[in-house]
Amino acid sequence: MENFERINWEAKYTVHDEELDRQHRKLFEITNKLIDKYESGFDECFNTLKELVGYLSEHFKSEQLVMMKINYWAYDRHEKEHKQFIDKVQEFIGAYQKGQQNLTVDILKFLRDWIFSHTTSLDLKYGELLQISKRSK
Ligand SMILES: [Fe+2]
Ligand SMILES: [Fe+2]
Repeated sequence: MENFERINWEAKYTVHDEELDRQHRKLFEITNKLIDKYESGFDECFNTLKELVGYLSEHFKSEQLVMMKINYWAYDRHEKEHKQFIDKVQEFIGAYQKGQQNLTVDILKFLRDWIFSHTTSLDLKYGELLQISKRSK
């Protein structure tokens, strides 16, 4: 099997909010855990996938609250991206539960890549605003 890359959080990905950075690190951790479980056999993937979607929902809520507080101009677009992703993950979980779909390398890569690229690009945009608003206090 090809080498499945894990994702790592680095300081340059900060969004200038300690709690949200902590949540991002945790998200990466759960994603890596899912990859570990996948590689060691299918057994516990489902629970970890559920843990991931649960944590994502919590995180998106916290993030949206912060974005709202600072009147982030691209709030609507960002919230839409969150919602679409959650819907997609729920779809996988639904199909998985019904036995129509197993977790595949493609699904796993999709999840990992979305989480990584969203966190290290789109999230940094509200992070810039957060940094400015903190500086001016
Ligand atoms: Fe985020
Ligand atoms: Fe986000």
